[in-house]
Amino acid sequence: MLTDQHGRRVNYLRLSVTERCNLRCLYCMPDKPLSWVPKENILSYEDLFLFVRAAIDEGIDKIRITGGEPTLRVGLDGFLKQITDYAPDIDLALTTNGLFMGEQAQRLADAGLKRVNISLDSLQRAVAGRIANRDVLGAVLEGIEASQAAGLKVKLNMVPMRGINDGEMIAILEWAMARDISLRYIEYMENSHANKHLKGVRSAEILEAVGARYRFEPVASADRSSAATLYQLENGYRFGVIEPHLEKFCENCNRIRLTAEGFLIPCLYFDEAMSIREKVRAGDVAGAVAVLRTVLANKPEKNRWSSDNQGSERAFYQTGG
Ligand code: 5AD
Ligand code: SF4
Repeated sequence: MLTDQHGRRVNYLRLSVTERCNLRCLYCMPDKPLSWVPKENILSYEDLFLFVRAAIDEGIDKIRITGGEPTLRVGLDGFLKQITDYAPDIDLALTTNGLFMGEQAQRLADAGLKRVNISLDSLQRAVAGRIANRDVLGAVLEGIEASQAAGLKVKLNMVPMRGINDGEMIAILEWAMARDISLRYIEYMENSHANKHLKGVRSAEILEAVGARYRFEPVASADRSSAATLYQLENGYRFGVIEPHLEKFCENCNRIRLTAEGFLIPCLYFDEAMSIREKVRAGDVAGAVAVLRTVLANKPEKNRWSSDNQGSERAFYQTGG
């Protein structure tokens, strides 16, 4: 079993398979051209799997594949299959912008993927296009439908932004509810790569907007370490709010992140990281696990978004958010 220095059990690995993305969402990337990490720095799926297998042996039982946009990396289905062949019961999820899910959902489900979180920030074509810097809405809606048809459990992520899509919080909730898809509102996390003028909406205001239309109650999540606070409407529909600015947000943090380059990141907010790249490339799995233990021994207790609105210089498209 893996634990950190604050006694938190760590059983959840978020694994970024690429930092590249076909979109430039306002809250994540600058819209000017980016220089990506050179390909030779990216770990092969073979090397990533060496680490994943060891991490599973150490007690990781939940893996979320992230990016950049993970469906851009060729061979993702084969990688997922390798993981589920090794650990058939693993809770295997994917976070995606959904653009390629129309094409890939069935293949990924066949490879053992169980759950998918898809970004849906607007149901208005022009607004969605402005947020993502590309005309995405049609393909994303197709991707959502294909994911459901493939039997994947779908959740939607919405980041409300003031003056951009904050007027759509209820419309998206209702759209999701009509399709029996759970929604997660995510408070915008300030970071230096995002559009400078963005202003997020905090959870209190999100709940107020929902409360003006629906009665709801907080519900305990089956997963105590879930990042979302869950609520239930009178008709039984559940939605969540992810509120990293809240003091208590980190209490049950159970996660560790690995970037495509092999950096283990103990907390999204801080710059600290250690690389396992050279270890896995040399086949030194025990060495990589030792790095993992060191990183956990230094995992910060709390982020500081509530106090200084800053965060790490490292972009979320590298850490997978
Ligand atoms: N703040 C909040 N959520 C973010 N995401 C990415 N960047 C941010 C940010 N700065 C979330 C969005 C996106 C998913 C990949 O991660 O929900 O859809
Ligand atoms: Fe965990 Fe850091 Fe995120 Fe808090 S901010 S939940 S400690 S990764």
